[in-house]
Amino acid sequence: MCGIVGYIGDRDISSVLIVGLERLSYRGYDSAGIATLSESELSCWKKTGKIHELSRFIDKLSIKGQLGIGHTRWATHGPTTEINAHPHVCGNGKKIAIVHNGIIENYASIKSDLQKKGYIFRSQTDSEVIGHLIAYYYKTEDSLLSAIKQCISKLQGTYSVAVISELDPNKIICFRKGSPLIIGLGSNENFVSSDINSIINHTKDVVYLEDSQIAIIEKSTVDILNESGKSVDFKVNHVEWDPNTSEKSGYDHFMLKEIYEQPHVIRKILSKYVSNNTIQFNHIDNSKIGLDSVRRFIIQACGTSWHSGLIGKYYIEKYARILTEVDISSEFRYRQMISHGNDLVLAISQSGETADTLACLREAKSKFFKVLSFVNVKNSSIDRESDGVIYSYSGQEIGVASTKNYLSQLLCMFLFSIYLGQTRGILSDKEYSDMITSVNRLPEYLEKILQNADKIKTISDKYYLSREFLFIGRGYNYPSALEGALKLKEISYIHATGYAAGELKHGPIALIDSKLPVVCVCPQTETYDKMISNIHEVISRKGKTIIIATEGDTRVKEFSDDIIYVPKAPDYLTPMLVSIPMQLLAYYIAINLDCDVDQPRNLAKSVTVE
Ligand code: F6R
Repeated sequence: MCGIVGYIGDRDISSVLIVGLERLSYRGYDSAGIATLSESELSCWKKTGKIHELSRFIDKLSIKGQLGIGHTRWATHGPTTEINAHPHVCGNGKKIAIVHNGIIENYASIKSDLQKKGYIFRSQTDSEVIGHLIAYYYKTEDSLLSAIKQCISKLQGTYSVAVISELDPNKIICFRKGSPLIIGLGSNENFVSSDINSIINHTKDVVYLEDSQIAIIEKSTVDILNESGKSVDFKVNHVEWDPNTSEKSGYDHFMLKEIYEQPHVIRKILSKYVSNNTIQFNHIDNSKIGLDSVRRFIIQACGTSWHSGLIGKYYIEKYARILTEVDISSEFRYRQMISHGNDLVLAISQSGETADTLACLREAKSKFFKVLSFVNVKNSSIDRESDGVIYSYSGQEIGVASTKNYLSQLLCMFLFSIYLGQTRGILSDKEYSDMITSVNRLPEYLEKILQNADKIKTISDKYYLSREFLFIGRGYNYPSALEGALKLKEISYIHATGYAAGELKHGPIALIDSKLPVVCVCPQTETYDKMISNIHEVISRKGKTIIIATEGDTRVKEFSDDIIYVPKAPDYLTPMLVSIPMQLLAYYIAINLDCDVDQPRNLAKSVTVE
C-alpha cells in the first residue's frame, strides 16, 4: 500500500529516495514519484509501474538537492496514471509538494469549495486537496506551518503526509492521523518514512510520530508539536534490526525464503515463551487487562490473521473453556458491540497497522473494552495502543502473502490457550506438560514437511492450468482450508474457495466435476472419519482429490489422486503442519503461471486504508 520516504542532508538525494522507495516496494504499489528542493527550487518526477522505471528516468538527469520526499502509490481514488501518482505539486507561484498515505474522506466537498475559488485540480485523487488547501491558507497565514495547521483542521479521514515547499525551503513538515509516520535521526541528516524498512539502512534511532502531532524536520534538528502547537519532548527508540531479513539469501523469492524460515521462527517463539516446561507471558500485566476474570474473548482481524483467529477460537474454547467470538474487523467495526463486562478484545495483526483492525481496537477502547493484541511488528500502531501485546516474533515478512507469520500467530494462539487452560485449572498438569512436550517437536515436523517440497512441486505441475480449486477441511482445519484457498488465489489469481467439508452438500457440491481439483485437508484428527465421508462425496462426483494426510495413512491413499503427507502429531498441531504444503502448493502453482509471488497484483502488505 502507499508508502512515504523523505530525506534532508548531504547524501545524494535521488539515490536515498529511490533506495527508500525500493525498500517500501514490498508493500505493493502501482506508481512512484519523488520531489526535491535544490537551491529553493522544487522539481518533481513520477512514473507508473515499477520503481526501476522511475530510477531509469531519473538516472539520466543530474539531480541535486538538499531535501526531498518520495512516494509509492497504491491506487484508491483515480486510476494508475502519472498524474494521479504522488507527489502532488500545487501552489500559487511558489510550489508546494505533498505525499499522502490514507484517505481524505471529505475531499469531495473541499475540492468543490476550492474549485469555486479558482483552484485547478489535475488529478482524480483525494490527496491533491491537501496541497491546494495549504496553498489557499498560505495566502492569509504568515507561514507554511500555519497554513498546514489550518489545512489539518479541515481534513477528515486518515492520513500521514509529508510536505516540502519553495515557501520554506529548508525543512520537511509532516503530520499524521491514523496512518503511521516514523522519523529517523541521523548526524546532520534526518529521515522520514511510513515504514521503518525504508530508512533502517541509514539509522536505527527513530521517533514514532503520534496522531495529531506535526514534525518539523531540518537537517540538524527535529521539532515535534502537539495538537495545540506546543513543542513536546519525544522518545528516541533504538531499533534492533537484522539486515538479513531484507535479503532473499539465495532463494528465488521472499515468499519461498519465508516458508523455509518457519522451523527457525517456531524455535524462536518457543524460546521466548516457554521455559522449564512452562509458558510465560511475563511482559503482560494480567490485572491491567483483567485476564484472570475474562468470560468472553472477541477476536477481530483481517485476512490471514482472521483465519488464525478462527483457529484460535477452537483452541481457546477447547483448552481454556472461554467463550470466544471471531469477527472480520471491517464487520466488527460497524456492528453494535454488546459488553457483558469481563470481555477482552483480541486484535490479531502481522503489520500492526491494518486500518480496520486498528479502528476496531480504538472503537473497542472507546467503549471501555481492554485490548490484548497479537502483533508481529514492534512499535506499530496496534502494538503501541493495545493494553497488552503477545509478539509473534516471526521477523520481517516481506512477501505480500503471509506465510511464516500465520504459523507464528497459530503457535502464539495455541500457547495462549493452554496457558489459560492451565492457570484456570481446566488442563491437568500432565495434559499441559504433554502438550508442551509435543509442541516442542513442531520445528522438527516442519523440517520434515519442507524436505518434501519437490513432491508438492510435482503436484503443482499437474494442476496449475486448472482455473478453479476447492479446499475443504473440518474442525481446526476448516479455517486451514480457508487459508489454503486464500493463499492460492492471492498469488496465482486462480479462483479458489475454502469450505467446511460438512457444508459441501449444502451448495458447493454443485461445482464438482472431473475438472475440479479439491484440496482435502484430512490429517488424522477427531473429525477424520467425517472428513473421509466428505471426500467420498467429492470422488463420487469425479472431483480430483489432492489429500493432505497423516504419514502412514494408507486408507486415504486408496482414493486420492495425489497425496501429501504430514507427520503424525496431536490434533492441535495439525493446522500448523498442513499450512506448509498449502503454502508450497500455492507458491509453485503461481511460479508455473509466471506470477509475481512477492508482489501480487492489486495487493498490499500493510493495508492502511479502510
Ligand atoms: C494474506 C495476507 C492478508 C493479511 C491481512 C491482515 O496473505 O497477508 O490477508 O493477513 O491484510 O494483515 P495484518 O495481519 O497485517 O493485519
